[in-house]
Amino acid sequence: MTEAVAFPQNRTCPYHPPTAYEPLREDRPLSRVTLWDGRSVWLVSGHSAGRTLLSDPRLSTDSTHPDFPLTTQRASAVRRRRRAALLGWDDPEHNVQRRMLIPSFTLKRAELLRPRIQETVDRLLDAMEAAGPPAELVSAFALPVPSIVICDLLGVPYEDHDFFEEQSARLLRGPTGEDTEDALAQLEGYLGDLIERKRRKPGEGVLDDLVARQLKDGGPDREELVQLATILLIAGHETTANMISLGTYTLLRHPERLAELQADPGLVPAAVEELLRFLSIADGLLRVAREDVEIDGTIIRAGEGVVFSTSVINRDAAAYADPDTLDWSRSARHHLAFGFGIHQCLGQNLARAEMEIALGTLLRRLPGLRLAVPTEEISFKPGDTIQGMLELPVTW
Ligand code: HEM
Repeated sequence: MTEAVAFPQNRTCPYHPPTAYEPLREDRPLSRVTLWDGRSVWLVSGHSAGRTLLSDPRLSTDSTHPDFPLTTQRASAVRRRRRAALLGWDDPEHNVQRRMLIPSFTLKRAELLRPRIQETVDRLLDAMEAAGPPAELVSAFALPVPSIVICDLLGVPYEDHDFFEEQSARLLRGPTGEDTEDALAQLEGYLGDLIERKRRKPGEGVLDDLVARQLKDGGPDREELVQLATILLIAGHETTANMISLGTYTLLRHPERLAELQADPGLVPAAVEELLRFLSIADGLLRVAREDVEIDGTIIRAGEGVVFSTSVINRDAAAYADPDTLDWSRSARHHLAFGFGIHQCLGQNLARAEMEIALGTLLRRLPGLRLAVPTEEISFKPGDTIQGMLELPVTW
């Protein structure tokens, strides 16, 4: 069994799991890794074991549990004391929160949002074309698309995007634990004020619906509402923005696959699914065992931490033939890039609609799209956060 691979690590190539994880790929479905604080925890690398364990209620997401495996000092500074809404709770509490939100995130709701997403994408590309070439794709396109869409959906004023995008970046990648704490406090303060204003003057949006619900039957309470708003706003823009930027970069580095999409736009939904599998940007889902759990002859003891490396899981050859190859014709849909079980991504229908429209339209409108600088000059996000690009200079 492999010992002491450190987790997480920076990717060597932004669209492949770090080469340092090679031993984990050879040692499926479970091995041991060491975290920043010296803790030794289980690392799940097998696809079938990943699905089984992510649906096992004996594995908890309670980040305040003393044995919960927090993978950075910065996450530890906030999550050891306080859990995130939804993601930090097990059932039955989790189920109560999730049920309130399900109607706003159904496939049908996401389909209804498509015309509005298309309008946003077209407007941003009009502006980019008018000002360029070249352009910096993250700030001109990949970040504003999901940011505008989630603001619309939640009822958050997009004029405030500089503020919440900056706090969100500090929260997810800030240099110190204090920085992270401060960013979370600022975001919660901002959303608390916004919710107060909505109480006095209701508008249209998911947050307005939650406020109305609170006024009608008393739940969720104010603090819970602010925490729900915080996770929805952060998860709603950062993740999809990373998929759009890193997805574009990956396509530009795979010209044959790109040409296939340009020749047949009907392939875009399959390409989005395959890119989700291939890129696995949320690489490190965290749990702690509340009871002993046996999996494939190994016993995870109560109190042991469990980390799911989605990048390694989604490259399991037992689940995907030739897993390191991008292939639009494979059936990638059962990947674990959105997680699995009760915490499986609430926003996945919305994220798929955004990615399909953003990538599909970008490729159609700018068929000559290419990198504007050599690859060595492009900066990527570090391995200890959601994977993506800090900047993507392009031309056409
Ligand atoms: C491509 C983009 C996205 C990716 C790759 C992604 C990935 C994930 C993953 C892996 C989880 C499960 C975490 C775990 O089990 O530990 C998750 C949960 C979640 N995601 Fe996403 N996500 C994306 C977009 C979104 C969007 C657009 C929203 C919109 C609000 C969103 C909201 C959430 C929420 C609220 C949860 C917690 C669900 C729960 O605990 O019940 N995500 N996401």
